[in-house]
Amino acid sequence: MYNDRPTIIANWKMNPTNYADVIDLFNLYCQEFNSNRIDPKFNLIVAPPTMYLFPLFKFLTSQNLNQKLNSIFLSGQNFCCEPKGAFTGDTSIEMLQDLGIKFSILGHSECRKYYKETDEIIAIKMLLALQSNIIPIVCIGETQEQFVQGDKVIKAFLKQQLLVVIKKIENLLNNIPSAANAKNKINKFAKCFFIAYEPVWAIGNGANVDVNYIQQNIDYIQHVISSYLINKIDSDLKYYILYGGSVNHNNAKELFKIRNLGGVLVGGASLKFEQFKEICANA
Ligand code: PGA
Repeated sequence: MYNDRPTIIANWKMNPTNYADVIDLFNLYCQEFNSNRIDPKFNLIVAPPTMYLFPLFKFLTSQNLNQKLNSIFLSGQNFCCEPKGAFTGDTSIEMLQDLGIKFSILGHSECRKYYKETDEIIAIKMLLALQSNIIPIVCIGETQEQFVQGDKVIKAFLKQQLLVVIKKIENLLNNIPSAANAKNKINKFAKCFFIAYEPVWAIGNGANVDVNYIQQNIDYIQHVISSYLINKIDSDLKYYILYGGSVNHNNAKELFKIRNLGGVLVGGASLKFEQFKEICANA
């Protein structure tokens, strides 16, 4: 169900705030994809507010448009780390699955900040996602405070965020008796995961982040995932690294040149269709 094309994720956060605008915006996305103007040489993943997932899922499946729309997917913005029960205001992973949702963002810096999500909680959710065949999009990134302390602190922090998640996957695999079983087990997993590198200080403010800086950190993230996870497990689990943080129509071209970048995660600019279109055109 997934492929190696670049991925563009539109994180609408808590926008738009009415149904008509949600449908209008999504319709524009679909029409543009369906026209000849955009060749879907990339995957588009749209993460609307939870309550609009179902109407958009229905909208997408009811569109009698050509197969280019097969490259549009829907994603949750988060889900609960418990399967069901007394968790007022939350959404369970089973609910996402039930609606045919195949992706979920996890560990977004806004959830870490406002809802006090920890690396440990995010790792539990990631594992749940993989086991439920939902592809997790896990956000990591240094804060302003870490950024000003320089490269060593930034890398140590990225590694720490990654290792909590990696350890959980490793533990699960190690608890399975034989290698053959491990392979079997992981075959039931979602076949891949995303890590979205989002420097927190660059989110939502139009920051002009140096692409060399991003490249360095993408390389480092790749190094950590390969050496601590992928090279250690006997599985075809794949991963893609994305960049997010003030992605816009002015910087998209340069960002897509970054080596080994699997795509971008777009917040604010995904709500401004004309700008978003330009970002997509650069994929
Ligand atoms: P931004 O948001 O593109 O508005 O900076 C990105 C994000 O929060 O994921």
